[in-house]
Amino acid sequence: MLNDSHVVLCVGCGGVGKTTTCAALGLAAAMRGKRVLCLTIDPAKRLAQSLGLESFDTEAQTIAPEIFAKAGLDVPGSLTVMMLDTKATFDDLVRSLATDDTQRQRILDNVLYRYISTTLAGTQEYMAMEKLYAVKDDDRYDIVLLDTPPTSHALDFLDAPERLVSAIDSPAVRWFIKAFSDSGKFSLNLLQRGAATILKGVSKITGGGFLEQVATFLTEFNALFGSWRERAEMVASALREDGVSYVLVTTPEPMSIREVLFFSERLRDQNMAPDAYVVNRLHRVHDVDASEEAIADAMVKHQLLLGDKAPRRVAEAARQEARLASLNRLNLYALEEAFPEEGTPPAVAYIPDYYRDIHDVTRLAWVAAQIAPQQG
Ligand SMILES: Nc1ncnc2c1ncn2[C@@H]1O[C@H](COP(=O)(O)OP(=O)(O)O)[C@@H](O)[C@H]1O
Ligand SMILES: [Mg+2]
Repeated sequence: MLNDSHVVLCVGCGGVGKTTTCAALGLAAAMRGKRVLCLTIDPAKRLAQSLGLESFDTEAQTIAPEIFAKAGLDVPGSLTVMMLDTKATFDDLVRSLATDDTQRQRILDNVLYRYISTTLAGTQEYMAMEKLYAVKDDDRYDIVLLDTPPTSHALDFLDAPERLVSAIDSPAVRWFIKAFSDSGKFSLNLLQRGAATILKGVSKITGGGFLEQVATFLTEFNALFGSWRERAEMVASALREDGVSYVLVTTPEPMSIREVLFFSERLRDQNMAPDAYVVNRLHRVHDVDASEEAIADAMVKHQLLLGDKAPRRVAEAARQEARLASLNRLNLYALEEAFPEEGTPPAVAYIPDYYRDIHDVTRLAWVAAQIAPQQG
């Protein structure tokens, strides 16, 4: 997949390891000689620092080759990281769509714009797609990896372009704009009596200027719609092109598996298929004697000063780990059963739970080796 894809999207619910997977895939591709761009959202501070990314700005930052060399990694390609910033991307979009400087500035300065560009549901997903669209054909990179936003619904981004456009280009909004633009200023007299009463009530609470702000904003934003809708359609269809791969990330927990299964169904509905699954934080059955006696013997042999209770506690921990491991296996049947019977089965990579955060290059390389082992 890393050899053939041009764009890879990592999808899954929050906390399952999407960002880690995305970074590890990026490293794996760079180790195969690719020039990689990782678009990421919320990298752990310590992981970013260990990659030498001190500032969290939206400029592309290429990881210094010395950092890989110091970790003993052979990386013939390159790894560039860019943080996604919803507001900055939205601002860029307004700049590119606006027809003149005053219009541009009025929109950017509007209170409502500031709200929509940061908090409106769907904006974050849409802007991630927008950014992806803007960089995917950049010939400085062979492959672009996208860490999708941690939405409660991992699949929101698929219809985010359409949803965001229709939220703003709705009958209610058109009605509002009409009330405003017929008279050139906002006039309650032009409205039906009922509506006027409601809006009068609203302006009592919000202060007189607020409705004006809303109307001004909507009117101006409306002027950009034509081209925005077109663009949103292009963005949406770019997600369905050849060379775009989907990696579904899950843990072995039932909730997370259910989410990922739901997501793969949604992809199939749209005539796309998940190309690979990553099952992260898997517990393993350890092939060691974890009886209390064996642990006590090992403590003597390795001169561990752990006290009398240690063998019992360690043995109990080992039993729990084994229980978790078999529970994980059971849960994963549900995932494997859902794979289509005909055709090539999707690739599945398993990443063990390392019990410690993946916060440095060396550990990231462990994950990379699990997901995409180097051949030869
Ligand atoms: N296999 C693993 N073993 C140990 N820690 C992990 C593993 N995968 C992820 N983590 C840690 O879990 C946390 C959440 O991972 P992250 O990739 O940021 O999740 P997401 O992006 O899906 O929210 C991070 O601190 C990361 O280092
Ligand atoms: Mg994340």
